[in-house]
Amino acid sequence: MSDRTRKLREFRQEEDDDRIICRCEEITKGEIRKAVHEGMFTLTEIRRYLRTGMGLCQGQTCSKMVRQIVAKELQVSPDTLEPATARAPMRPVEMWVLAREGGEADV
Ligand code: FES
Repeated sequence: MSDRTRKLREFRQEEDDDRIICRCEEITKGEIRKAVHEGMFTLTEIRRYLRTGMGLCQGQTCSKMVRQIVAKELQVSPDTLEPATARAPMRPVEMWVLAREGGEADV
């Protein structure tokens, strides 16, 4: 769904716009709706713009809701939206782990 000529309905505040959708990043439904009206038409754009799905849950709890909200704003079926690009979760790694993998002597 990257048709930039798409004409959206006028943005109007909704009663539940304050509802938190991504708890990790504290992103509300209203912020997601507003991002769509600012031109973020894909789930990847929404993720990069608002950081939804980039918190601790890595999108496991919020991505389905984000998809539904974006689809509703674009007036399309949620199934037509391509999933956001996924990346493996990142965790800090201590240097000794990398040194050991590289064949270095014990540190
Ligand atoms: S609820 Fe935080 S990344 Fe999904």
